[in-house]
Amino acid sequence: MGSNITGIGSYVPEEVLTNADLEKMVDTSEEWIVTRTGIKERRICPGDKAASDLGTEAARRAIADAGIEASDVEMIICATITGDMIFPSTACVIQNNLGIENVPCFDISAACSGFIYGLEIARNFVDNGRYNKVLVVAAECMSRVTDYKDRSTCVLLGDGSAAAIVERSDSNFGILDTYIAACGKFGNLLYVPAGGSRMPATHETVENRLHYMKMEGSSLFRIAVVAMGEAVKKVLEKNKIGIEHLSMIIPHQANIRIIQAVARMLNFPMEKMFLNIEKYGNMSAASVGVALDEAVKSKKVKKGDLVCMVSFGAGLTWAANIMRWGKDD
Ligand code: ACO
Repeated sequence: MGSNITGIGSYVPEEVLTNADLEKMVDTSEEWIVTRTGIKERRICPGDKAASDLGTEAARRAIADAGIEASDVEMIICATITGDMIFPSTACVIQNNLGIENVPCFDISAACSGFIYGLEIARNFVDNGRYNKVLVVAAECMSRVTDYKDRSTCVLLGDGSAAAIVERSDSNFGILDTYIAACGKFGNLLYVPAGGSRMPATHETVENRLHYMKMEGSSLFRIAVVAMGEAVKKVLEKNKIGIEHLSMIIPHQANIRIIQAVARMLNFPMEKMFLNIEKYGNMSAASVGVALDEAVKSKKVKKGDLVCMVSFGAGLTWAANIMRWGKDD
């Protein structure tokens, strides 16, 4: 008995922010953004919506894909660093939107690694037999913590959501294993200084733009490549699976050059690294979930394929899992 993703869905808002739009906002160019990041456009959440609205839509799609009713869901885990409010949890807001009652709901903060972390938490609840049908949602409005006067970060980020239903499985399909890790000593490379209990909102924090993400991009870049490459190696080695058996790697979509460097480090063909960064940029926790959903819907990932998701983000956190994709007919 193990755990399997029996339903997957994703949702991105309609509004598109292009590189040409960004050229009008900061001192940048289409050429710099595309060659240095691989990103052409990103999606932006409308002003009257929040992370929970994106997450609710992705959740509805995952529930439908699993062929269950919302009322069958036994637990909701939401991975987000841009939740609607400091509290209550965005998972509780999504629960209410879906009309689900009396199930445990909580958020996890693991930035871009949040979807894989969330799946791993769900897997443990399902594997130990305490819960079945766990809804994992990754919902991010990164545009809300992005400083559109800072060219070094604003070109990178976008909004979106993904969701999965994790259920007990007695077939060969499912999540085979997961490696999750963190290193808090590098927390200062990527963070939002104000708005929490260390630096509550004041006129000064707003004037000094301290509610926006601060990032040391080139340090993160180097750590990301090694951390993601090692995470894939570790989860494969522990399960005695050679990398040549992977049909596809679904990597976090932060920068195409990071993805290329990870592929080189692993000696893995770029054609088998799933890419959608061009359309969405970095949607933090939602990135690998949206990528997995698109890979499945476009038949790039097929029933029986061995697939690895890998991610890296603020914390710093990183994670990789391996899945035998599919479910019994
Ligand atoms: N347009 C034009 N020029 C720019 C821009 C821009 N948008 N941004 C930076 N530059 C300039 C810099 O000012 C610098 O100029 P200088 O040489 O005159 O000082 C030059 O370009 C090179 O800057 P670098 O920072 O060295 O550029 P780099 O090639 O490292 O690319 C980037 C920067 C894209 C941020 C890259 O480092 C990166 O992707 N880092 C990793 C990001 C990441 O993985 N984050 C973690 C996940 S995010 C999350 O968890 C929420």
